Amino acid sequence: MAHRMTTSAGAPVPDNQNSLSAGPRGPLLMQDYQLIEKLAHQNRERIPERVVHAKGWGAFGTLTITNDISRYTRARIFGEVGKKTSLLLRFSTVAGEMGAADAERDVRGFAIKFYTEEGNWDLVGNNTPVFFVRDPLKFPDFIHTQKRHPRTNLRSPTAMWDFWSLSPESLHQVTILFSDRGLPVSPRFMNGYGSHTYSLWNHDGERFWVKFHFKTRQGHTFLTNGEAAEVIGHSRESYQEDLFGSIEKGAFPQWTVQVQIMPEADAEKTPYNPFDLTKVWPHGDYPPIDVGVLELNRNADNYFAEIEQAAFSPSNVVPGIGHSPDKMLQARIFSYADAHRYRLGTHYEALPVNAPKCPFHHYHKDGAMRFFRNDTGNPDAYYEPNSFDGPVEDPSVQEPPLRISGDATRYDHREGNDDYSQPRALFNLFDDDQKQRLFSNIAAAMDGVPDFIVQRQLGHFAKVHPDYAAGVARALGVTMRSDPAA
Ligand code: NDP
Ligand code: HEM
Repeated sequence: MAHRMTTSAGAPVPDNQNSLSAGPRGPLLMQDYQLIEKLAHQNRERIPERVVHAKGWGAFGTLTITNDISRYTRARIFGEVGKKTSLLLRFSTVAGEMGAADAERDVRGFAIKFYTEEGNWDLVGNNTPVFFVRDPLKFPDFIHTQKRHPRTNLRSPTAMWDFWSLSPESLHQVTILFSDRGLPVSPRFMNGYGSHTYSLWNHDGERFWVKFHFKTRQGHTFLTNGEAAEVIGHSRESYQEDLFGSIEKGAFPQWTVQVQIMPEADAEKTPYNPFDLTKVWPHGDYPPIDVGVLELNRNADNYFAEIEQAAFSPSNVVPGIGHSPDKMLQARIFSYADAHRYRLGTHYEALPVNAPKCPFHHYHKDGAMRFFRNDTGNPDAYYEPNSFDGPVEDPSVQEPPLRISGDATRYDHREGNDDYSQPRALFNLFDDDQKQRLFSNIAAAMDGVPDFIVQRQLGHFAKVHPDYAAGVARALGVTMRSDPAA
């Protein structure tokens, strides 16, 4: 039998169809607290959408460890073969708002929250191993070029290509974005990457640099621009339908989890900066090692509570896993928790989807919506240090010290940096059909962009490979100037 309906204060509701009125034709009475509560709640049903990655799709699942890497890390999640850890994975596009169509060309977010025995570990990655910029000072400007133009309120290809053509470090990511991998059929058919270099550290205090990879077991499938237009014509929600629907049917998508491991001292020796987010570590130098299998097997019961209110942050690491000097990562350690406090409120970590599944004891106190117990074991132990058996620090989980060097200044990250070799290695991987689609996708995205910007970008493509520039110029129907970078 259905439950008896109540107000939010628990009082039974006698009539949910007719407001309280003076006479059958109204007006309404101020004392209709039921109506007032209902309208007031509705007015508060929306929270700010994420400033980026607003449109998303998520599900719960499990990581199962298949290979022992405990010599590299003391993290319990990697503790033994067969170990299972529950997780939440949210996929997203970057630029579109919450109502945007799913099948739009864009980088996809691949954000995972692992509920480990020693706290939540969030790996907030993308479906690409690199990013458009390598210095966080450039991130808000880059995002402005992806969002709407202040006057037209439209997306601006001119802004995008102006920024990219003035920022050659973006070439690697731009090439991926306009390749087949820039428009997967659904999140099931794409890889995820931690993208940044992180660190692992073991019980002996040794540190290793690490990259995380999540290889789709469903295979890579993609949409051409034309196919995507058709999909969007039928449904703006093709990703939600595919992901939710397949999990609902019991067809659980899986990813093989791999790591690339670099001994700490190697970071001094690589010809590229291993902490540069616009670069990969070539597989030939640091072969991927299988670690486990990630499976998504449960849909959320309430999208808003469990997916919209999910708060991922690169600051969430656990003993055995750490950060790296990557400047972008360093900035993200600050940015996400700050965004959550604005979007969800001070105690966002206490929301059920974000709360750790292991015991947790901290001394953070009051603030809006303080609804949880702060279980320090003793009401007198509400500060630290104290003499009343309150929770205490544990030096055994101290990360090993990191040696750093150099003068503090603003180093030019473009100086001596090769922005062309790795995009070239990627371009050379593409077969002829893939190259043709790359050219036509770029040409389509450059529609309406002023010639001087197009020419500047062609100059960068030419430095990657002459065929790259020639192919895009042909697709655009333009002639490349002899010195386009000038
Ligand atoms: P490898 O030949 O060993 O690796 C190439 C990797 O490129 C593949 O393993 C695959 O990554 C990815 N790849 C293959 N086809 C495509 C495609 N059509 N579109 C996008 N990615 C594709 O060479 P390197 O490791 O030296 O890398 C060469 C280039 O490959 C890099 O410059 C980079 O652009 C790209 N790449 C490299 C990755 C890395 O971590 N080294 C990861 C992804 C891309 P995956 O197995 O992850 O699907
Ligand atoms: C979301 C900032 C770079 C992946 C966000 C959000 C902010 C942000 C503020 C919204 C958070 C929220 O409201 O919940 C930044 C900054 C960056 C940066 C300042 C660079 C300095 C990156 C990079 C990646 C990435 C390099 C991937 C490798 C994501 C993902 C989300 C996200 C996946 C959505 C998380 C979710 O599903 O909730 N970013 N970002 N970001 N970012 Fe970044």
